[in-house]
Amino acid sequence: MYVCLCNGVTDKAIRQAVRAHHPHSMKQLRHLVPIGTQCGKCIKQARAILVEEREQLPKLHDVA
Ligand code: FES
Repeated sequence: MYVCLCNGVTDKAIRQAVRAHHPHSMKQLRHLVPIGTQCGKCIKQARAILVEEREQLPKLHDVA
């Protein structure tokens, strides 16, 4: 599913970036994927995905 239509960024791309680089903020996430650089409508959803994925990270470390 596309989150950012302006830049063609999918939720999958955002999730992969969060899992690989563990950004702590939207600012850090935006260094990894080009979201919110045009109209900005995607920021809210991208933030929700960032929070959701960060909540999953400790669980992944527990398994490993
Ligand atoms: S939808 Fe992401 S900047 Fe427009």
